[in-house]
Amino acid sequence: MALSAGEGWVRASKRFMAEQIPREFIDQLLNRIDIVDLIDSRITLRKKTGSNFFACCPFHNEKSPSFSVSQPKQFYYCFGCGAHGNAIDFLMQYDRLHFPEAIEALAKQIGMEVPRQLTTRSPEKAAAQQSLYELLDQVTKFYQNQLRQHTQAQRVVDYLKNRGVSGTIAKDFGIGFAPPGWDHVLQAFEKNKLQLLEAGMLIKKEDGGFYDRFRDRIMFPIHDRRGRIIGFGGRIIDQGEPKYLNSPETPIFQKGHELYGLYQALQANRQLQRIIVVEGYMDVIALFQHEISYAVATLGTATSANHLERLFRHTSEIIFCFDGDQAGKTAAWRALQVTLPLMHDGVQVRFMFLPDGEDPDSLVRKEGKEKFEEHMQHALTIADFFFHTLAAQTDIKSTDGRARYVKLATDLLKQLPAGIFQQMMMEELAKRARIDVSQLHAKPATQNSPAKRSPLKARPPSVLRMVMTLLVQQPALAQLITEPLPKVEMAGFELLSQVIEKAKQFPDITTGGLLEHWRDQEEGKQLARLAQVEHMIPEKGIEHEFLGAIQNLHKTAQEQLIEGLLSKAAQIGLSSDEKQELSGLISSKK
Ligand code: UTP
Ligand code: MN
Repeated sequence: MALSAGEGWVRASKRFMAEQIPREFIDQLLNRIDIVDLIDSRITLRKKTGSNFFACCPFHNEKSPSFSVSQPKQFYYCFGCGAHGNAIDFLMQYDRLHFPEAIEALAKQIGMEVPRQLTTRSPEKAAAQQSLYELLDQVTKFYQNQLRQHTQAQRVVDYLKNRGVSGTIAKDFGIGFAPPGWDHVLQAFEKNKLQLLEAGMLIKKEDGGFYDRFRDRIMFPIHDRRGRIIGFGGRIIDQGEPKYLNSPETPIFQKGHELYGLYQALQANRQLQRIIVVEGYMDVIALFQHEISYAVATLGTATSANHLERLFRHTSEIIFCFDGDQAGKTAAWRALQVTLPLMHDGVQVRFMFLPDGEDPDSLVRKEGKEKFEEHMQHALTIADFFFHTLAAQTDIKSTDGRARYVKLATDLLKQLPAGIFQQMMMEELAKRARIDVSQLHAKPATQNSPAKRSPLKARPPSVLRMVMTLLVQQPALAQLITEPLPKVEMAGFELLSQVIEKAKQFPDITTGGLLEHWRDQEEGKQLARLAQVEHMIPEKGIEHEFLGAIQNLHKTAQEQLIEGLLSKAAQIGLSSDEKQELSGLISSKK
């Protein structure tokens, strides 16, 4: 079947959209994988009740199993923490894979090859991005050569040696030298001027000419997670302003997403037990030099949620490293706030504060690996840092102060994902404020927890909701719909039509397969909620109930038409055709 770009292709990479996977392939894949086998190969599934398997949820801590996997639906759901999804979601969550990696892993399991097409919105653009990567790779080699050959190279090598950077590390990190002068890169890559400009390596002059952005600087190439070079940081040699110059944002370089050193850390470690987040290029390099090969730096920006999500795909423990001064504490508090919503059970975050006047680079060179790691062991847990900081801001001896303390704390703790960690924090807060945990209004276990939000206790099902629920749970029911559904003015009708269309188009589709079509969309979340509603209709009665509900929708559509015509009649009168339609509708209603 020929597939056109657009609907039929799923973006394999959200960032650059360099590759796309045909939608049809994903449908086939989900059709051939059995989610029960898949999950059972990672965690032991037990006890079958009806068509569901159970286990203790791998996504939060629990003693009795509330994680269920349905074979017919090809869908899992945790009644404790609300985790849910199809086989792809499971691998993304459990193995912490990106979407395309999860597809790749599933395909491999059943010996299928993932067809990919290089294309963004336009194939030209993808090719252009491809060549930006290649170009920056060439430019890196150029800078590395200059570090070996340029007449002033010795000065730079001396500087690096002086700072303790070995030849091996310089090579691992691709460190180079941009010589003094306005047009070295411009000359060397004359033919690719425009790409150089796009990649941020040139600056445009008023008169239309160009000159090199980086001059007389030590060059640190920035790699993306896959090892492609996407930009540079350039440090002045010794003294001068600005100390560091970074590539601007370009189509392939987004600072809020990238972390310096992550690629090298992933290369050096098969598994990352922890990652330490530091401030500077030289900190990452010095730590690496001292065999602490799990440091990353943000690129002159604050740590973003996006950075953290990325890091949590590769590790379950993050240690933030900050200066010990007030600025460092403020930055740490900001990082804590970004972190809170990402504190799912099982992850750990700590805050390390450096002695006055030190940065990780100077400290590790002074003290060595072991002492440095010892400092890390003593880093504050997120809980300690949280309560210490709040206590420092308020006077918890006075009643007023204590109320303020509790208010500040609960407002922040509300942002935590529901789970054990949130509960523990609330209990700790109650203990510290000397109140009963039930007095805290943000009571997470009842307000924020998925158990309460769960559709099990949701409002009584409307007809449309009933149809949608049954369809999502048993897409094959769509085949029973023989007459096209007339348009009904009702919230959710549009989505219902789409679900019916998909379910008719793919007669074998399962719940998990169906939901895949709404990945990352708000509607997908609604449908996922319906996917595990306990509808209480006995198996034998489902078809009857479904057809009855469809019939009901037909009736509603008819009534809406009648109402519309009646109100038009009252306001401006009806044409003779409309009059006829109206009387037809009314008589067929009986
Ligand atoms: P620092 O000023 O702390 O420098 O900047 P550093 O990392 O200790 O550098 P060395 O040890 O003197 O070589 C920390 C980070 O802030 C960004 C860079 O990413 C730097 O690594 N920065 C700093 C800039 O982007 N521009 C600047 O002018 C200074
Ligand atoms: Mn430094």
